[in-house]
Amino acid sequence: MRLRWWHRFVAPEPVACAEATVLAVASGKGGTGKSFLTTNLAVAMHRAGLRVVVVDCDFGLANDHLLFGVNPRWSVQHLFDDAAAVDIADVVMATPFGPFLVAGGSGISSLTELGEGRLAVLARALGWLAARHDVVLLDCAAGLSPQSLLTAMVAEHVLLVTNPEIAALTDAYALIKCLARQSAMPGVHVVVNRVAAQEQGRSTFVRLAEVARRFTGSSIHWCGEIPEDAAVTQRRLGQPPPIVSHPQCPTSLAVLTILKNLQARIGSLRPHLPNDRLGVASRLQRHLRRSAP
Ligand SMILES: Nc1ncnc2c1ncn2[C@@H]1O[C@H](COP(=O)(O)OP(=O)(O)OP(=O)(O)O)[C@@H](O)[C@H]1O
Ligand SMILES: [Mg+2]
Repeated sequence: MRLRWWHRFVAPEPVACAEATVLAVASGKGGTGKSFLTTNLAVAMHRAGLRVVVVDCDFGLANDHLLFGVNPRWSVQHLFDDAAAVDIADVVMATPFGPFLVAGGSGISSLTELGEGRLAVLARALGWLAARHDVVLLDCAAGLSPQSLLTAMVAEHVLLVTNPEIAALTDAYALIKCLARQSAMPGVHVVVNRVAAQEQGRSTFVRLAEVARRFTGSSIHWCGEIPEDAAVTQRRLGQPPPIVSHPQCPTSLAVLTILKNLQARIGSLRPHLPNDRLGVASRLQRHLRRSAP
């Protein structure tokens, strides 16, 4: 990623006040269940009394609006295309289930590669959101592209969603390796989705944690497992998230446990002064500076 003119105008500044907990939901392999978890976890957080906003960072291929059953008039595309005329306040929308959403724009190939100017706009938008919510949930694009890594790296915590199968685990390890190379590695909390039997997720995590410790020297944390549930896959467009329609089903109960585990590990999820004293906007700008030639 090359850095040209804009960084001179938006140098990282320490945040003076508390801001939201910024959590990135990420994976190495695609299709592990990030968007499913993001949307259901957001509803669980809202019901726990938290002001939560989901940012669909799978720009150009976004689908959180479908999972929330909304038809956004604005998306980040409008913000990126005309930041002078469109404000982040225009783009953030309420969903029927409580959380707010910043839609990522779908079917727009120009959004799959963001240039520096757009990333600067994104940094400002995230800063604005973090100042006004308790939790900012970033639903990341899969893979290790600079863009998907960047959205994971600006978070204080990464919820790493994997499946028990070997391909997903290998890619999860690859993501951990990339995050471990950062000077300030975000906390990594692992969710094993689509498990066939109870405790399969925990044993999968133990193997992943051992490999991560041995080869990167980093510690990752257990956050929970979600069972395979055919009702999730067969859900039709327009149906509410399972946590709304079937609050007592095993996947919904698993999401509630994940929220409980997260709170037990990282605290109340209320606004706080970030450990590095940088806000999310400044962290994004700092990463851009580092990746400049
Ligand atoms: N626990 C589960 N049981 C059954 N199906 C699931 C479960 N979790 C997710 N799925 C299904 O897996 C598919 C992929 O889920 P989802 O879109 O949330 O993944 P993703 O990681 O966001 O994908 P992408 O990398 O493309 O953004 C969807 O059809 C979803 O309904
Ligand atoms: Mg997704």
